[in-house]
Amino acid sequence: MYFSALVTLSCLVSLGTSQIITIQNSCLPAGGYTLCQNLWNIAGAVGSQNSTLMSSSTQTVSWATNYTWADGGNSVKSYANVESINAKGVQLSNISSAPTSWNWNSGSQSSGSQGDVAYDIWFGQASSGRPSTAGSSYEIMIWLSAIGGCGSNKNWEVFSFVSAGGDINSFNADLNAFFTYLVSEQGVAGTQYVQVIQAGTEAAPGSANFVTTSYSVSIASNSSSAVPSSSVLSSSHTSSSASAFF
Ligand SMILES: *[C@@H]1O[C@H](CO)[C@@H](O)[C@H](O)[C@H]1NC(C)=O
Ligand SMILES: *[C@@H]1O[C@H](CO)[C@@H](O)[C@H](O)[C@H]1NC(C)=O
Ligand SMILES: *[C@@H]1O[C@H](CO)[C@@H](O)[C@H](O)[C@H]1NC(C)=O
Ligand SMILES: *[C@@H]1O[C@H](CO)[C@@H](O)[C@H](O)[C@H]1NC(C)=O
Repeated sequence: MYFSALVTLSCLVSLGTSQIITIQNSCLPAGGYTLCQNLWNIAGAVGSQNSTLMSSSTQTVSWATNYTWADGGNSVKSYANVESINAKGVQLSNISSAPTSWNWNSGSQSSGSQGDVAYDIWFGQASSGRPSTAGSSYEIMIWLSAIGGCGSNKNWEVFSFVSAGGDINSFNADLNAFFTYLVSEQGVAGTQYVQVIQAGTEAAPGSANFVTTSYSVSIASNSSSAVPSSSVLSSSHTSSSASAFF
C-alpha cells in the first residue's frame, strides 16, 4: 500500500527550480527527506495528483500537492508525503526529543472535499521497517486538520490524535510528547523503534491545493551529543486525547 522506491530522474519534469512528480508511485529525493506521491488507493477513482518539490535541505523541505479525485468511493485516495531519512531507527525509551515544525496552507479546496493534513508514524520491533508491513507494530496518526475514520483489520494498532481546535496551520511540537504518552498511558513498549515518520496530505474526493512552506522533523536520543531543541507540545494547539483503533 505504501511505496518507497525511487524513480529515475527521467521520470521527473523540471519546471524552473521546482520539480514536479505526477506518476503513481514516484518519489523524489528532497534533502533530508523523500517526497512521494503514494496514490495507494485510487482503484476506481478518476483524477490525478501532482506534487511539486519547491525547496529542500537536510533539515527543511517545502512542497505543494494538487489533486482532483472523483468516484471510487469516499475513502482517502492518496497520501502525498515527505518521509524523513534521518529521524528513525531510535527506540522510544532512548528518545530525548523529536522536534517538528510544519507550516502549511490550503490554497484552494472544493466544497465537500475531505482532504486533510497528517503525520503518519510507524513503530516496530526491529530498528528498521516499512509502513503497512508485517514488521509494523503501531501506526500513529496526528491530524492537523479534522477528518474522521480510520482503517481496521490490520496487524498493527492505530493511535489517532486529532486537533481539537480546527486546522493547525503552524505546528511546532515535540513528537516525543506523543511518544511518551503512548508508552506511559497506552502500553506501547519503550523498546519499540520509530521506523518511519511521514508528513503529508490525505486526498479524498474533490480537489484541493495544499502548500507546505516549511516542514522539519528530527530525533535526538539521550545518547546523542546533539543538544535538543526545547520545544514542547503546546496544549493550546493539540488535543491530548487519543483513541485507539483495532
Ligand atoms: C497547483 O494549483 C495551483 C492553484 O490552482 C496552481 O497555481 C499550481 O500551478 C498548481 N501546481 C501544479 C503542479 O499543478
Ligand atoms: C497533473 O499534471 C497533469 C500533467 O501535467 C495534468 O494533466 C493534470 O491536470 C494535473 N492534475 C492536477 C490536479 O493539477
Ligand atoms: C536513555 O534513556 C533510557 C530511558 O530513559 C535510560 O534507560 C538510559 O539509561 C538512558 N541512557 C543514557 C545514556 O542516559
Ligand atoms: C540507547 O541509548 C544507550 C545509552 O546511550 C545506547 O547505548 C544504546 O545503543 C541506545 N539504543 C538505541 C537502540 O539507540
